[in-house]
Amino acid sequence: MFYPITRLRRLRLNQNIRDLIKETEITINDFVYPMFIIPGNNKSEEIESMPGIFRHTIDKALGEIEEINKLGIKAILLFGIPEKKDDMATGAYSKKGIIQHAVQSIKKEFKDLIVITDLCLCEYTDHGHCGVIHDGYVDNDETLELLSLTALSHAEAGADIIAPSDMMDGRVSIIREVLDDNNFENTMIMSYSAKYASAFYGPFRDAAKSAPQFGDRKSYQMDPPNIREALREIEQDIEEGADIVMIKPALSYLDVISAAREEFNHPIAAYSVSGEYSMVKAASKMGWIDEERIVYEMLTSIKRAGADIIITYFAKQIAKSMSK
Ligand code: PBG
Repeated sequence: MFYPITRLRRLRLNQNIRDLIKETEITINDFVYPMFIIPGNNKSEEIESMPGIFRHTIDKALGEIEEINKLGIKAILLFGIPEKKDDMATGAYSKKGIIQHAVQSIKKEFKDLIVITDLCLCEYTDHGHCGVIHDGYVDNDETLELLSLTALSHAEAGADIIAPSDMMDGRVSIIREVLDDNNFENTMIMSYSAKYASAFYGPFRDAAKSAPQFGDRKSYQMDPPNIREALREIEQDIEEGADIVMIKPALSYLDVISAAREEFNHPIAAYSVSGEYSMVKAASKMGWIDEERIVYEMLTSIKRAGADIIITYFAKQIAKSMSK
């Protein structure tokens, strides 16, 4: 039926009718808030390229968690920045490591909060790569051993979900195995399945002091032009036992989210990364955009594309605006 019988504008007549027919709505339940933890006490450093986001010592992080908990955010994703780095990333799997300590302290105070730990070696290696280096190449299978040790130490500390972000082949099955062998069959795995070698991680590498000291991550992270390969990565992680699969970054990869939604029935997470956050903050500071509307539009598009979970540095800010 065509005009004038059909007038699509009728359904846009006022806010109430627009609300009634709304297809997609973001809620606080969708959000995961990423946090950076540093050693020491009583210190919070604002990340220069990510205004409003801090590196906190554990005591300070507990303060911010209290705040987001009150706002209704139910999940956090933790990154640790150790005191010292070395070529074997020993800080990543030390029982007294920064993340292990942080998880214990957080779970003690906030039992129901979902604590997700990023599992990667790049914040802990002095060369900044996500694995063990041999002749300038990241050795896959040797890295798996260290990832397995690290995953177990996170589970022992009390993490609810382990999130491997290293992009080594076979990591999900090796992590599932070590968790099951040690009675952590209820610890979940949220795999960074389709993680692209993206320039959008720039501000994060400042935040976590984890930029590679030579070369780049293109021999393990995915090449941005590929989508079929992303579906293979996701398929493989599902077969290996991932509970949740992730696509990262989000905004430039909405097609990947949408294709994954069509093809798989697993919960899908999308990570709206540091560069996505910083671009909005910078343009907003210049007065060039309406920040709040842009953020709603961005996050809604990620959900519309098919993501169930949105990992975003805007979580706290949007939770505040939703509770107004
Ligand atoms: C660790 C890791 C990175 C991000 C999440 N986990 C950095 C990287 O791969 O270089 C990026 C997150 C962001 O940009 O917000 N491997």
